[in-house]
Amino acid sequence: MITPRPRVRDLLLTLPGDAELRVRGWVRSARDSKTVVFLAVNDGSCLASLQVVVDAAVPEFEAIRHYGTGAAIEAHGRLVASPGKGQTVELHATRVTLLGAVDPTFPLQKKRHSMEFLREIAHLRARTNTFGAVFRVRAALAQAVHRFFDARGFTYVHTPILTASDCEGAGEMFQVTTLDLNAPPRTEGRIDFDQDFFAKPAMLTVSGQLEGECLAMGLGQIYTFGPTFRAENSNTSRHAAEFWMIEPEAAFYDLNDDADLAEDFVRTLLADVLERCAEDLAFFDEHVEKGLIARLRAVVDSDFERLSYTDAVALLQKSERKFEYEVAWGKNLQAEHERYLTEVLLRKPAFVVDYPKEIKAFYMRRNDDGKTVAAMDLLVPQIGELIGGSQREERLDVLEATMKAQGLSTDEYAWYLDTRRFGSVPHAGFGLGFERLVMYATGMENIRDVIPFPRTPRNCLY
Ligand code: 4AD
Ligand code: MG
Repeated sequence: MITPRPRVRDLLLTLPGDAELRVRGWVRSARDSKTVVFLAVNDGSCLASLQVVVDAAVPEFEAIRHYGTGAAIEAHGRLVASPGKGQTVELHATRVTLLGAVDPTFPLQKKRHSMEFLREIAHLRARTNTFGAVFRVRAALAQAVHRFFDARGFTYVHTPILTASDCEGAGEMFQVTTLDLNAPPRTEGRIDFDQDFFAKPAMLTVSGQLEGECLAMGLGQIYTFGPTFRAENSNTSRHAAEFWMIEPEAAFYDLNDDADLAEDFVRTLLADVLERCAEDLAFFDEHVEKGLIARLRAVVDSDFERLSYTDAVALLQKSERKFEYEVAWGKNLQAEHERYLTEVLLRKPAFVVDYPKEIKAFYMRRNDDGKTVAAMDLLVPQIGELIGGSQREERLDVLEATMKAQGLSTDEYAWYLDTRRFGSVPHAGFGLGFERLVMYATGMENIRDVIPFPRTPRNCLY
């Protein structure tokens, strides 16, 4: 194995000594007096920068003074105890080399920029404190996802991104084609998809669930973690056209087991980042959402609420609150309802279960009341819906009847129905929107600011 090169986060934990050490990174800021320059050097390994002290004895001192914010440098020197506040050690340079000069038009000169401005320069924003911290927390959460499922015996599977079926039945899909859109082949006036790449229409996936179910029927417990695409034209702070979804699916699970798993999942992941990303979370607590760490601790330490859709509707109707959209049994809960329920009425994350069958997908298990399905949404303060899941309809005849009633072709879904034909068992699963979890964990308010290169309606920068 190659010995890892020390990065700023390692150097900051190293004791002062005489050994000649090296740091490479980008100048975040430079403080300059006649005889000495202090360079804050950041390499992305942690939030903090290493202070590099350059005095007039260092060769090319005059040039170093003018490197500027954003320049890439390498500095050699030894670590000494730092008299300044905020750091224990600093590097007293013997030599500084310019690795990459910075053009004076570098846009990240001042300390604070608006999120909107930074979105326009998404290719540079990883060089700010905020986005460095967001992307480190995002990475830590992704690793925690794999540890969580691995520890519980779930097999990580890769479901296709190109698909020919619409899992959610909502039809909000991006079509993928190699046909010439200016002159598509036609037969009898209609586009002839027989001549398209797959000899039929193909789409970007909205969910790996249906394929995940097939795999769970052999592997028992699986999860997917991959890119997901929705062409819904909703320009909100919580919707992206491309996002990442985590979807576990488990044989022999009912809705209660599913909710237990989801609760364990969210609490374990937040506990994990509280432990591993303390420095970055402290930054968010100070600059993005005051009280963030206390909020996360409370979520980790308390049980989530569970209530039926029917009870949730009654609670909302009983409240005096005037909503833009009416609350009525049989209608979807809107984001304003979901947030009021968790932020004001319950003041904690809550599973709402057993939704009217008309407003949920065909694959959810019909409840005995004839009116509802075994669905669950996990609603959390600030975000609204974080998870959507359900127990699946495992009875072939019931599933076929629902599909027919909803106009879905049982021929096209014959492969899916096979899972019910051959050794069908009760099973359940859910989907968690990864960006919404990153928002929840960091306090960031817009989904565009928790994914490196966001894709939203009319916006596909780069
Ligand atoms: O509730 P959804 O649509 O559920 C499914 O897709 C199921 N097939 C999941 C399953 O049971 N395996 O989506 C699941 C989650 C939502 O709760 C939300 O967090 C996220 O995915 N999500 C989005 N996140 C960002 N942008 C969008 N446009 C999203 N649409 C859904
Ligand atoms: Mg949903």
